[in-house]
Amino acid sequence: MNAADRFLARRSYASSAPGGTPVSVYDSSSNAAAAVAQEIATLIRSKAAAGKKAVLGLATGSTPTGVYDELVRLHQQEGLSFRNVVTFNLDEYWPMQPDALQSYRRFMAEHLFDHIDIDPKNVNIPDGTLPLERVAEFCAAYEDRIAQVDGLDLQILGIGRTGHIGFNEPGSPRESRTRLITLDKVTRKDAASDFFGEWNVPRRAITMGVGTILRADRILLLAWGESKARIIRQALEGEVSQAVAASFLQEHANVEFVLDRSAAGELTPVKTPWLLGPVSQRSLRWNERLTRRAVIWLAQALGKPILKLIEEDYNEHGLQELLSERGAAYDVNIEVFKSMQATITGWPGGKPRTGRVGSPDLFQHASDQYPKRVIVFSPHPDDDVISMGGTFVRLCEQDHEVHVAYQTSGNIAVFDDEAVRFADFVAEFARTFELFGAADVARIEKQAAAFVTGKRPGEIDSPELQRIKALIRRSEARAAARFCGVASERIHFLDMPFYETGRVRKKPLGPRDVEIVAELLERVRPHQIYAAGDLSDPHGTHRVCLRAVVTAVEKLSAHDWMRSCEFWLYRGAWQEWEPERIEMAVPLSPDEVERKRMAIFKHQSQKDKALFPGPSDMREFWQRAEDRNRETAQAYDRLGLSEYQAIEAFVRWKPGMF
Ligand code: F6R
Repeated sequence: MNAADRFLARRSYASSAPGGTPVSVYDSSSNAAAAVAQEIATLIRSKAAAGKKAVLGLATGSTPTGVYDELVRLHQQEGLSFRNVVTFNLDEYWPMQPDALQSYRRFMAEHLFDHIDIDPKNVNIPDGTLPLERVAEFCAAYEDRIAQVDGLDLQILGIGRTGHIGFNEPGSPRESRTRLITLDKVTRKDAASDFFGEWNVPRRAITMGVGTILRADRILLLAWGESKARIIRQALEGEVSQAVAASFLQEHANVEFVLDRSAAGELTPVKTPWLLGPVSQRSLRWNERLTRRAVIWLAQALGKPILKLIEEDYNEHGLQELLSERGAAYDVNIEVFKSMQATITGWPGGKPRTGRVGSPDLFQHASDQYPKRVIVFSPHPDDDVISMGGTFVRLCEQDHEVHVAYQTSGNIAVFDDEAVRFADFVAEFARTFELFGAADVARIEKQAAAFVTGKRPGEIDSPELQRIKALIRRSEARAAARFCGVASERIHFLDMPFYETGRVRKKPLGPRDVEIVAELLERVRPHQIYAAGDLSDPHGTHRVCLRAVVTAVEKLSAHDWMRSCEFWLYRGAWQEWEPERIEMAVPLSPDEVERKRMAIFKHQSQKDKALFPGPSDMREFWQRAEDRNRETAQAYDRLGLSEYQAIEAFVRWKPGMF
């Protein structure tokens, strides 16, 4: 464990909030979830030993699923019994039928209650089926039931991007109790993918109030991933106000924020520790990484290029210690400037004669091989071109043997009417040219069209429809990859089984998923791997896909070819690497930007995805990619490096990174 890790692993830090709210930062969300499950198990056991009930407040959403998985494991493998447990869920959409795919009752059954020995009479979940006139009475009774069991012993919370806990949207008062609430627009957008379109998301929900939550004896707020980092900072370091319901937690006497590193990334002790005093007192060292981060932060904060920073700038912004440790401002400036300069290369696969790119120390594991065998892993069929289309084209044009592996079919992201349009085309085509089998084709088209007509929002597609949607995405991916210069026989569709559920909720990553990736790696024996490192996609598919690649790479790590293989992570569709983290920056000319845009356009079924599945970002993918690549180039320019039209950024994969 290095100093930074030790710092991150400390149990708590005094935040700027009055009293200092305890925060635990874990290496990974799975470790954090396991620790939370342990705490719950300890509570349940100690209550049972005292002949008492353990009263738990539970949350739904993507955040607590790892905790529930671990509790199920503890029940099945270690005999943890839930006979003495009473639960109260935070919330439920209204209106909502309990068997609907998006129902929180169904969620709880699938993730926890169906797998443990809890008495169904002890399970309390707000009722989404009530008529409006009975909701208020139900809410009052919910509060009474909590009071009858002497309140919640432990409340588990996630946090929404609005800062909501439960569904207490901005404006929820500190003393609010269980009630019907109107959902915020941001929350409805975030839920849009679960409902297959924002327009299907209910406008209201029943939720416990802030006051209900704050009465719990102990509260654990859980958050994972970079997409939560900004709101976590607001909740912990911002003022206590009803604009951010989670900020009220600062006033609770026994609360803990349980975070993974990414969710903690915006907190002052992590992001700009020098603002809290000498970093040496936080067991940190002014190593190359921290120095680079601080200097780029300083340059950006002052709007100055790196080479124009002067001693006073450092001294006046909490960086005296950096200069006293690493020398004069001029020397520090030069060091960081050079390290940034060395990231820029137009030869992502290395140059023909040297086979190396950038400074030798940055690329010490690079194989001298030229041309290289390269595999680009793309979680969905369009991430490759969205995130690294320009680099992809360069690698092909620079004569490398470029393979692309589409990890999932991406079939749930195709509109129904798009699938029917294609089925109609094929049927018409077969009829027109009197092809053998035209009648069968027409039958499939009719079945698909009939299914779509009778489909309820969120209903799982028929197998035919799923297949048609997958085929549409396949042919688009092939068109885009060919356009970038990839030979047809080097386009691979992995169809990883974890993804193929026909719904947003996927299966856990299984051994077969990893095997499929490992088999391709063994076949190609690449000198370079590129994989998606933007883990904020709404359905969490990128995270699973990256885990599959990392697990396969680790499995094969004994091979020489794998030991010298470079493993790069790209970003783009959902987020971008910050300049201080970039290790390879591939500049794009205006022409290359246009070519990348054309490659993204091949994914016609993904046009209008700004409306569906409804992420908060309303720009289409090509716009987001262009904006992000331009912003990176502008950031380099402002730091005083060369001025490019656009830059695609990469970071090396390192063990324990996510
Ligand atoms: C869920 C709930 C919400 C979620 C929050 C985060 O019962 O009340 O407050 O905890 O919206 O959702 P995820 O975990 O999906 O990011």
